Amino acid sequence: MKMLLLSLSIVFFVSVPPDTIYASSSEIAILFSGEELGALQPCGCYEGQLGGISRRDAFIDLLKKQKNQVFPASLGDLTKGSGRQDEIKMETLCRALGFMGYVLHNLGEKDIEMSPRVLSFLSQSQNMEFLSTNVSIKAPFPVKINQSVVKESLDPDNGVKIAFLGILSKSFLEHHMNEYVTISEPVKALKPFVKQLKNKVNLIVLLSHAPMEESREIAKSFPEIGLIITGHNIEEPKDAITYVHNTPLVSPGMGGRFIGIAKYGVNKKTIERKSVEVVPLDNSYPESQEMVSLLREYQNILKEEGLLNKTPQAPLPNGLAYTGSFACSVCHKMIYDHWYKTTHGTAYNTLVDDGHQYDPECIQCHTTGYGEISGFLNDEKYQNLIHVGCESCHGPGNKHRENVNDDYGSTDEATCLKCHDSEHSPTFQFNEYWKRIAHPKVPMKKYPQTIESQ
Ligand code: HEC
Ligand code: HEC
Ligand code: HEC
Ligand code: HEC
Repeated sequence: MKMLLLSLSIVFFVSVPPDTIYASSSEIAILFSGEELGALQPCGCYEGQLGGISRRDAFIDLLKKQKNQVFPASLGDLTKGSGRQDEIKMETLCRALGFMGYVLHNLGEKDIEMSPRVLSFLSQSQNMEFLSTNVSIKAPFPVKINQSVVKESLDPDNGVKIAFLGILSKSFLEHHMNEYVTISEPVKALKPFVKQLKNKVNLIVLLSHAPMEESREIAKSFPEIGLIITGHNIEEPKDAITYVHNTPLVSPGMGGRFIGIAKYGVNKKTIERKSVEVVPLDNSYPESQEMVSLLREYQNILKEEGLLNKTPQAPLPNGLAYTGSFACSVCHKMIYDHWYKTTHGTAYNTLVDDGHQYDPECIQCHTTGYGEISGFLNDEKYQNLIHVGCESCHGPGNKHRENVNDDYGSTDEATCLKCHDSEHSPTFQFNEYWKRIAHPKVPMKKYPQTIESQ
């Protein structure tokens, strides 16, 4: 079915001669994404996940093939945090956006938390501009931020100019302000730009990294703005499109799962809005080979930098330590043999098959004890702790091995939910899931026999 959808859409695009549609006028599309929050690609933990830079690139490519002139813009918050993995992600994302022909990246509050050194590098090395009309960063490493970006469509007969402005709401920054960052009142910052641009360009687009309510107020203050890309924490952006007078306020949603598209018809240097929509990036879009290579490169950097080894490990109380599932098999052979055949017993191989075994974000749930002293750390010394082992659910077992009558191993639904959370296992239900992996019933009298036999 996947293949079928794909080939149908390609046939459709190819069989319509572009000249018949765009004989007397042309069409431009402003595309927008935002709040990726580090989601480069769906993790693949369950079927039907949306998003990813790979499908996004394919989507943009299809539009270009339809002879649309596209202006992709990014609303802000490429990553969630500002640790080393986030830095690598931010660079990967900026390279991806540059490759896809993004005209700008508007700064969100997460972006400006990134170290000025990284921002400085990215602001100068990528062929995509950083935009913010109201944020400036004065660090020892200069960060190049444009207060406005003006783009012109290429068509000589129908040439139009589009101005992009961008703001960051002050409401997101009260608690943690980087000392280098200055942020001014959005409306005040926008005023001179809107005034200066309104008679010079055909369309003003605002990237408003702000809550919907604040963006609505901005829309009321500036009827000259023709399109506002906005929203924060909006899960279902399709239901969130609103209008102030005739200006659409539209959000690209979260986690890079959607892409927004505003289409304009251009005729004799005038511009007219045709549609505004938000499209879910499902598996009907192919994977772009360029993005697949870029993501592979990202995984390689994680491996080369040895990020797995750099995650801090929490101490365990009372001299507890992980020992690995195989050590349990000595006395609980039936349970071990059964466990080994469940998907918990092969969870690490799933990552190896995908090339994600050096990614701390995946390892935490697909191995045993990662993030705790004596838990999984790397594949060189910790082969006994790969997969979701016995101790993932029962806890570190060194003491139980020494004294089997000690109180050990009680576990419940809360343990499962550490990994089976809504983001990675949305259909999880304890009874239903436990049934699928329940241990074989072992008669108690078997224990002493096994113990004697070792
Ligand atoms: C918070 C824990 C968690 C994290 C983090 C996590 N996974 Fe998973 N993963 C799971 C769980 C739980 C399942 C099983 C989900 C289900 O069937 O309901 C799963 C299933 C999978 C599957 C499907 C296996 C199959 O055979 O169907 C793949 C592939 C996968 N994960 C890859 C990844 C990758 C790649 C990453 C990192 C980008 C990752 N996971 C991060 C918990 C996690
Ligand atoms: C030396 C043999 C031995 C080893 C090794 C061993 N166990 Fe046990 N385990 C036992 C015996 C015997 C019992 C039953 C104790 C009792 O009922 O008091 C038991 C009980 C348990 C229980 C049930 C506890 C309860 O109170 O219901 C769990 C869970 C458990 N073991 C898990 C593990 C895990 C996980 C490992 C590996 C880290 C492991 N065992 C290693 C012998 C062993
Ligand atoms: C340390 C993380 C972790 C914990 C704790 C955990 N799981 Fe899982 N679970 C996973 C991962 C990862 C997978 C996917 C394995 C794969 O295919 O790679 C999975 C897969 C499963 C599956 C198979 C889903 C399928 O049909 O493919 C079931 C069932 C399941 N878990 C039940 C449970 C239950 C019940 C608990 C609690 C008693 C639990 N899990 C605790 C990580 C965990
Ligand atoms: C996905 C989580 C999970 C994993 C992995 C897991 N167990 Fe369990 N185990 C449980 C749960 C939940 C129970 C309680 C079952 C119940 O109440 O019926 C349990 C019960 C037990 C018991 C008590 C006896 C029984 O059957 O009720 C033993 C012994 C045990 N596990 C050993 C192991 C060993 C050994 C391994 C690894 C080979 C292992 N478990 C892996 C979740 C897990």
